[in-house]
Amino acid sequence: MTARISAKIIDGKAFAADLRARLAARVPSFVEQAGRAPGLAVVLVGEDPASQVYVRSKHKATLEAGMQSFEHRLPAETSQQDLLDLVAALNADDNVDGILVQLPLPDHIDDKAVLAAIDPAKDVDGFHVVNAGRLAVGEEALVPCTPLGSLMLLQDVLGDLSGLHAVVIGRSNIVGKPMAQLLLQQSCTVTIAHSRTKDLPAIVRLADIVVAAVGRAEMVRGDWIKPGATVIDVGINRVPGAEPGKTKLVGDCAYDECAAVAGAITPVPGGVGPMTIACLLRNTLVAAHRRTGLSDPEGL
Ligand code: GUN
Repeated sequence: MTARISAKIIDGKAFAADLRARLAARVPSFVEQAGRAPGLAVVLVGEDPASQVYVRSKHKATLEAGMQSFEHRLPAETSQQDLLDLVAALNADDNVDGILVQLPLPDHIDDKAVLAAIDPAKDVDGFHVVNAGRLAVGEEALVPCTPLGSLMLLQDVLGDLSGLHAVVIGRSNIVGKPMAQLLLQQSCTVTIAHSRTKDLPAIVRLADIVVAAVGRAEMVRGDWIKPGATVIDVGINRVPGAEPGKTKLVGDCAYDECAAVAGAITPVPGGVGPMTIACLLRNTLVAAHRRTGLSDPEGL
């Protein structure tokens, strides 16, 4: 028997569409003041099929928001130096406010060296150590898109997060660590759990907020969730589907089980995923304002 869903289902797709519309509405006043549209450059090296899909959606969303999109597709055998030269050219190009180098990069390229070469003011992924450091000490930073989008959804559902216990499962630089920093900034009590954590279910049971970002299909079970907790599922895992040869996407949480206990939960797909691109556009607009000496657009 499938457990009944009692949780509020957090509609990330609708929230992201609304955010994108609000961003698009801010673009004309930027154009008026700066004399140009905000610009996002996306660099893809190689032909990874998933990356190609992401890059195409980013391009489309950027244009839909009224921003300029600069796409750079390079062959898989591109040398690290050639990629660094492209990053240097984009750093120097005044029409480019945001630079995103799509990960993963081919094995012969050191992604740390490439990320370090991006001008922190244009680092709309928020992966540069300068932005990670600024986030950690509470200074103005560009914040990684997935945690930022997750925080927006949490604030939409819960309002003030202060004093709540958040358990973040996953310690990556891209999601887990910046998510924990953002929640700490909101005065949550934050636990960072990970694959080596002892008795993970007992830790997760303490959480008012669970952020699952481990990349393991349906690892978080319903009986790990405190009744009424808010569950943000960052996982996107492709697993075999019901029909032979077909696959489906699932999160890091066993959705039906968790939704029967949680107060609110993000679905996969349609939860955190759509927020990532919306936040990338948000970061591009914010970077454009800061680079132009304008104050940050409000309410984003
Ligand atoms: N690959 C998958 N997601 C992302 C992302 O958010 N940024 C970059 N640069 N690469 C990715």
